[in-house]
Amino acid sequence: MAAYQYVYHMDGVSKTYPGGKKCFENIRLSFLPGVKIGVVGVNGAGKSTLLKIMAGLDTDFSGEAWAAEGAKVGYLPQEPKLEEGLTVRENVMLGVKAKKDILDRYNDLAMNYSDETADEMAQLQDEIDANNLWDLDAQIDVSMEALRCPPDDAMPENLSGGEARRVALCRLLLEQPDMLLLDEPTNNLDPASREEILDALAHYSGSVVLVSHDDGAVLALNPERVLIMPDGVEDHWSDEYADLVSLA
Ligand SMILES: Nc1ncnc2c1ncn2[C@@H]1O[C@H](COP(=O)(O)OP(=O)(O)OP(=O)(O)O)[C@@H](O)[C@H]1O
Ligand SMILES: [Mg+2]
Repeated sequence: MAAYQYVYHMDGVSKTYPGGKKCFENIRLSFLPGVKIGVVGVNGAGKSTLLKIMAGLDTDFSGEAWAAEGAKVGYLPQEPKLEEGLTVRENVMLGVKAKKDILDRYNDLAMNYSDETADEMAQLQDEIDANNLWDLDAQIDVSMEALRCPPDDAMPENLSGGEARRVALCRLLLEQPDMLLLDEPTNNLDPASREEILDALAHYSGSVVLVSHDDGAVLALNPERVLIMPDGVEDHWSDEYADLVSLA
């Protein structure tokens, strides 16, 4: 994706819930790759609704909204749900599925070596080298430990809200999306896990749209821009908005 092309564009977006409750009108927001945006507003201002539209999960709106072709969008809902029936580690592994598939295919071919598959194997080996995949499992261990994920074999139905959020965040960060949509990512997190998220926010190279009432999280992101809901007023970020974050 070229750095001068919008990674996301939204214009004239309005949302009314069934029953006639108007949520917001005529929202406009476009940004280039790597741009960081804080979204602020009181409870019920439509922040979560806006993120669901941006994530492509709510298509029942009027106006124009699209992510750039090929842009990988990662979304953390306000109340993340994990895949039931999969363990904590299996949930995290969903974030690296494409990488894991490459490794698994390579290992399959290596176990049943034949001349016909030698070229494919060499190609996979190049891909594994280039993307540093040999120690994928160890990388996952490090990420899971940093976010203090519950034990590998724990099941989602037995997790607290904060634990589920940590697992969902771990998966999301491993996916390395071009654009991260985060809805109150530090809610219910203990201080050590919160610090990990603040650190990830501070160093994320892709675009980030952050909804948060946690001024520390917004300051860690160091956004260039702020979007104030429900009116959709946009401004350059200034530290005066930090008060609005925690008061909103
Ligand atoms: N599925 C729904 N059906 C009808 N109304 C809804 C629905 N979801 C949200 N709303 C309403 O739309 C408005 C915006 O909700 P939304 O969850 O987007 O707010 P928010 O800014 O994220 O609030 P909070 O800070 O509490 O998370 C609220 O008045 C809410 O009651
Ligand atoms: Mg919300």
